[in-house]
Amino acid sequence: MRLNPASEFLSLSLSIPLSPLSLSLYTSPPPSLSSPVSLSGSAIKRIPLLLNRRAAPFFSPSFTVIKFVDIHDTHGNLQRQQAVYFSAEMSYRGVGFGGADSPPSIQRETMTEIEGVPIISSVTQSWDQIRNFKARPDDVLIATYPKAGTTWMVEIVDCIMNDGDTERCKRSPTHDRAPFMELNPPKPFPSGLQQLASMASPRLVKTHLPVQLVPQSFWENDCKVIYVARNAKDNLVSYYHFQHMNQGLPETGSWEHYISSFLSGQVPWGSWFDHVIGWWESKAEHRVLYLFYEDLKEDPAREIERVARFLGKGLDQAVIDRITDHTSFSQMKENPMANYSTLPAFIFNQAVSPFMRKGTVGDWKQHFTVSQSERFDEEYRRRLAGTSLRFRTEL
Ligand code: A3P
Repeated sequence: MRLNPASEFLSLSLSIPLSPLSLSLYTSPPPSLSSPVSLSGSAIKRIPLLLNRRAAPFFSPSFTVIKFVDIHDTHGNLQRQQAVYFSAEMSYRGVGFGGADSPPSIQRETMTEIEGVPIISSVTQSWDQIRNFKARPDDVLIATYPKAGTTWMVEIVDCIMNDGDTERCKRSPTHDRAPFMELNPPKPFPSGLQQLASMASPRLVKTHLPVQLVPQSFWENDCKVIYVARNAKDNLVSYYHFQHMNQGLPETGSWEHYISSFLSGQVPWGSWFDHVIGWWESKAEHRVLYLFYEDLKEDPAREIERVARFLGKGLDQAVIDRITDHTSFSQMKENPMANYSTLPAFIFNQAVSPFMRKGTVGDWKQHFTVSQSERFDEEYRRRLAGTSLRFRTEL
């Protein structure tokens, strides 16, 4: 493998064990290969690839790139899909999904607990390493309860950190630009910790952990944290759809059942109430900018400016306007580097529900019956009674 960072092209060769099958390599979004690769054979093949740096701006030495390979039989039928993983060191690893008799698939996770917080089992497998994660002083942590607007905030912060260079923000998918710290997916996907270890500073780190589980080193280094909270009902609706489309998360059960699971905190990453309240109270001790999804919807430019100030960046109005436009729901929905379309359907099945689903405040009204809403509100009032934290459920 040769790599010349100064050149427009990156060239590398890739060894793939081939059975008597043909193989075609594609990337998402296309086209990032300068020429299509198609091979057949029965031995280990070295495939020369020339990646056009302009067409594949996300491919750089500090990134992990996952590409998906269709493997066809000699009749041209899709046999299986294989993920090909180039790490920062440009090593190749591959794994097969599916086989001749089964379509590509991953297994939905089971649930377990960490210090009483319900979470998917894979996180517990690397919990010691996560706990001991070494934050750097200039790391910026984006913390959220799942589906509160994480991807939106990643895009905003990445734009701010790049002084409004929105083209640069298209260099790689969200999950590369802000690795998900506690994610520990099946091989060959890199874990969040592996991605972060090979990332240059300043790093943008994503977590869904409740505040009490955040690695101590973030506090020791006085890192800046941006927390985004979203009203419970819209958050629940978004999570319900996401658990359906994300083939790695546990099944939700019925809608009625899911409301109960959410209220009792029996969903991945635990109780919404504990999460939003825990982080709200942490502001007294740590450098946490606590934002609301609803405020972002109401006046994105105002909130983007708040984030920029928090990060010590003075941006002029034209830059704020550019970031506001680039991070609007409509732009992000069409942006393959922000809409998760780089993941194949056997992981995020966007035919079930698009990642960029609605992006509104008040969608819960389309889902809750009057009695479900009343039951929810009763528990909600009880749980939020002792705090000054207030949410808006409509604008
Ligand atoms: P919906 O499912 O309600 O549409 P996360 O990134 O934490 O997983 O959150 C995803 C939710 O944020 C989805 O909500 C998604 O549509 C919404 N979202 C993402 N980008 C957005 C944007 N630019 N503006 C508004 N909502 C956005």
